[in-house]
Amino acid sequence: MKVIALLLPLHVTLNYLNTIRSSIPRGYEPYYSQSQRLICLVWKHSYKTLNAIKEFAKRLPEAHIVTSDIRRLKSTYELEKCHVPCTIVGNVVIVSSKTLSNLGGDVVKACLALTYRRLRTIYVKELTEGQYRVAKLQLLYGVDESTTTYREHGLTIICDVKRVYVNPRLSTERLRVLRSCTNDDRVLDMFAGSGALTLLLSTKLTQGIIVSNDLNQSSIHYILKSLAYNARMLKAPVILLNLDAKQLPGVLKPIFTVIIMDCPHESLRYLLHAFRLCEPDYCTLHVYVVGCSQDKVANTVKHLINEFKEFMNHSCRVEEPIRVLDYAPRKYIYRATITCKRLQ
Ligand SMILES: C[S@@+](CC[C@H](N)C(=O)[O-])C[C@H]1O[C@@H](n2cnc3c(N)ncnc32)[C@H](O)[C@@H]1O
Repeated sequence: MKVIALLLPLHVTLNYLNTIRSSIPRGYEPYYSQSQRLICLVWKHSYKTLNAIKEFAKRLPEAHIVTSDIRRLKSTYELEKCHVPCTIVGNVVIVSSKTLSNLGGDVVKACLALTYRRLRTIYVKELTEGQYRVAKLQLLYGVDESTTTYREHGLTIICDVKRVYVNPRLSTERLRVLRSCTNDDRVLDMFAGSGALTLLLSTKLTQGIIVSNDLNQSSIHYILKSLAYNARMLKAPVILLNLDAKQLPGVLKPIFTVIIMDCPHESLRYLLHAFRLCEPDYCTLHVYVVGCSQDKVANTVKHLINEFKEFMNHSCRVEEPIRVLDYAPRKYIYRATITCKRLQ
């Protein structure tokens, strides 16, 4: 036995469905989202009614028919309770190609359509590629529209998931960094990505300033849009730069009390450039690094600082790295915090 679900396009309301009720195949159960939008009709006797459903679906041009093998999805109840690991960015949901092959496309589509009431698009992520760390995405369901907005800590982040690095799973980490800053910090966000941290910091630093940089022009484009959209909540001025991080010491003065280096594959390559931008008396660097263990990350960072010693005017201490995200089997993203003081 199979379950068939017809995922309905947004404009299909219950009223509309009532007007065409006579043509709905028998034996369906309607499912509603939290906003009472009718989102799908589920048939349990599918193999008998499949043709009738196909006929019916022709009247609802954007509807998707999904058939689910009952061994994967035992009942419509399970459909309602099912869980698909995913990243939600506003009305765009991103699943990994591994999840897709584990659960099957139909289960993924049906579960997500029932779970997320704002769902507009499902993309499958094959990998994160290139220097800009953008996700390579294939459309699985809905409209191929990758620009979206999502809410984080009361801010609206505007982004394009195909052109900019976006990761709402870092929201707690961003809050931790925010809490470690003081109101008058001068912050350099060296690899700003979606700009979510830049925006968050700007809501707190009443007497500070933030310089936000990214090599990806699209990042700057969307950060600008987010800044304009959230203008009323922002306190610290934000300066946006679209430069390679290694050019920053050529255009900025060493005034920064906090430097954020969130480019886990590359951060360490720019560590010396970051040290050159540190305020002479005191500076904290938050460096994100891919690694297998806290100890290894701490040792790598300490080793580098030792190498740079002769070029530095600070004495620096590396705090115990914090594990921020899972990255790959037995690999994680860590934040190593380096606190530096003027050499006596
Ligand atoms: C992991 S993402 C940053 C994530 C960001 N902190 C956020 O929360 O959205 C890394 C970013 O570094 C940028 N990037 C990579 N190489 C760079 C370079 N040499 N100079 C400046 N930006 C660079 C990429 O375009 C990407 O947006």
